[in-house]
This record gives sequence, structure tokens and C-alpha cells, in this order.
Amino acid sequence: MITDYEMPDMNGIEFICAVRSIPELLNVPIVMVTSHDQRSLRREALEAGATDFLPKPIDRDEVRARVTNLLALSQAHRALRDQVAQLAREVATAVALVEEREREIVSTLMCAAENRDEDTGDHIARVSAYTSLIAEALGLDTAECRLMELAATMHDVGKIAVPDAILRKPGPLAPEERREMERHAERGYRILGGSASPVMRLAAEIAASHHERWDGTGYPHRLRGEAIPLSGRIVAVADVFDALTTERPYKQAWSPKRARTHMAENAGAHFDPRVVEAFLSRWDQIEAFLEVGRQQLPVPHAA
Ligand SMILES: [Fe+2]
Ligand SMILES: [Fe+2]
Repeated sequence: MITDYEMPDMNGIEFICAVRSIPELLNVPIVMVTSHDQRSLRREALEAGATDFLPKPIDRDEVRARVTNLLALSQAHRALRDQVAQLAREVATAVALVEEREREIVSTLMCAAENRDEDTGDHIARVSAYTSLIAEALGLDTAECRLMELAATMHDVGKIAVPDAILRKPGPLAPEERREMERHAERGYRILGGSASPVMRLAAEIAASHHERWDGTGYPHRLRGEAIPLSGRIVAVADVFDALTTERPYKQAWSPKRARTHMAENAGAHFDPRVVEAFLSRWDQIEAFLEVGRQQLPVPHAA
């Protein structure tokens, strides 16, 4: 754009300000025609967003050279901006693809585990959903919640190595069988550990720590309090609540209310009190979720 300073209605500075206030025109070069005695006016024009000046009286060749150069510069600028935007789009697509593949791999792995134990599929989906609700209530950001939700699906993956006779035993377990069952925590850690993927690393951390207890009486390492990773403390609450509210070969399902009381009573003993508080703060959603769960299998909200 080429503008004069003195014009009817709007002067040149006002015109530049008006043009620059339109986002689409922010990078359009504006040349102002001024005479040599208008130095202070030039400063004002620069502040308003002028790109360059042309002296009065206008010289045809100078105008042509100046405009050609400015247009070339502006085009190069636009091309660079488009290239950056294109690269950003390509990166976003690649990241989405990697996340999609990761979900696929995780669900394949989980399918393998589910074939061993028919209850597992529903249990995984519910624990994952409770985990996400608690993480949200604790103030974790959306990305962390999604990661936690996906990682939680793998908390019991170590059970793959538990013999059927123990895994499917209807009655209570003998001490040696119980020890074998408890090994699933460390086995899960070994299966998932060693990966560079953030979701696998988190899943390994959860597998290793979801049976630790706040008071230090859990397994496998008898960790206490905040020495237990937050992810493990969250999944502990989700996991136990689900175990209580569903039927197991050795027990009836507890009512949600009874299970809720148990969780509250064990805050500070089995569970991190802050995590229980977060869990209870989402009680309406959890109850609604349990209602839906009776009719259909709840699926963690995949993005
Ligand atoms: Fe477990
Ligand atoms: Fe579990």
C-alpha cells in the first residue's frame, strides 16, 4: 500500500493505524509519501506500522524499485510462515499417529491378558476411568490425565505370568499361591520397564506401585507415604474400589455406599488421604458411572 500523509477525512497515520488493526493486513508493506521536512512525522508513521518512505516529489523509477523489493520481501516472509505452519501440521499429524499406534499396541497387549481372565476387561476399563477422574480432581492437566488413563489399563499386566490354577482359583489362596499372585507387580514392571515411551514408563511405575500402601504395609517394596509414586497411589484407590464393588469368585459385590465408607475409613492407612479426598470429590460421577456400568461396559474415553 502506498499512502500520502495529507488526505481528506483521515490522515496517513490514522490510515496506517486502521490498516494495522486488521489482523489479515498486519504484514502488508505500507509505504508513506513524505517530504524531507517531515522528520517527526516519519517517526510517528514508523510507530503506527509504516514499512518504508518515499520522498516527495515522487520519482517513477524509485517507486517501482521500492515496491518491487518490498513485495519480494513480503512474499518471502509469507512463504516462510506457510512453511512453518505446514511443518507444525505435519508434526501434529505424526504425533497423533504415534499416539494412535501406542493405543493400538496397548489394547493388543491387554487383549492377550484378558483372554486369561474373563473379568479383566471390565476391571481394566473401570480402573482406567476412575484413575482419570481422580487425576483430574487432583488438578493434573489434560495430557497427564490421558497418559494416566491409558497407563492404568496396564496395571495388572504382570498377571500374564500367573498360572491359571492360581489366577482362576475360586476359593481363597494359600500363602504360597498368594505370594505368586503378588509377584504380578514386579513382573508387570519388568514387562513394561525399559521402554522410552512416556506411557510405558508410567505404566511400569503403576504396575510396580499399585499395591503399595500409604502406611508402608503394602508390596512389593513396603514403600510408605510419598515415597510411593503418585500414579501408584491413584491406581491403588481406583483398583481397590473396583475390587470391592464387583463380584469376585470369593466374595459378593459391595454396595457403592459401603465401598465408599471403606475408602474414607482407610484414608491415611491403606490410601493417600489426598487421593481419597479427590476420589470422593467426584462421587456423583462415580455413582453415575456405576449405574451405566451395570447396563454396559464402560470404556475409557479415548481421544
Ligand atoms: Fe494388581
Ligand atoms: Fe487390578
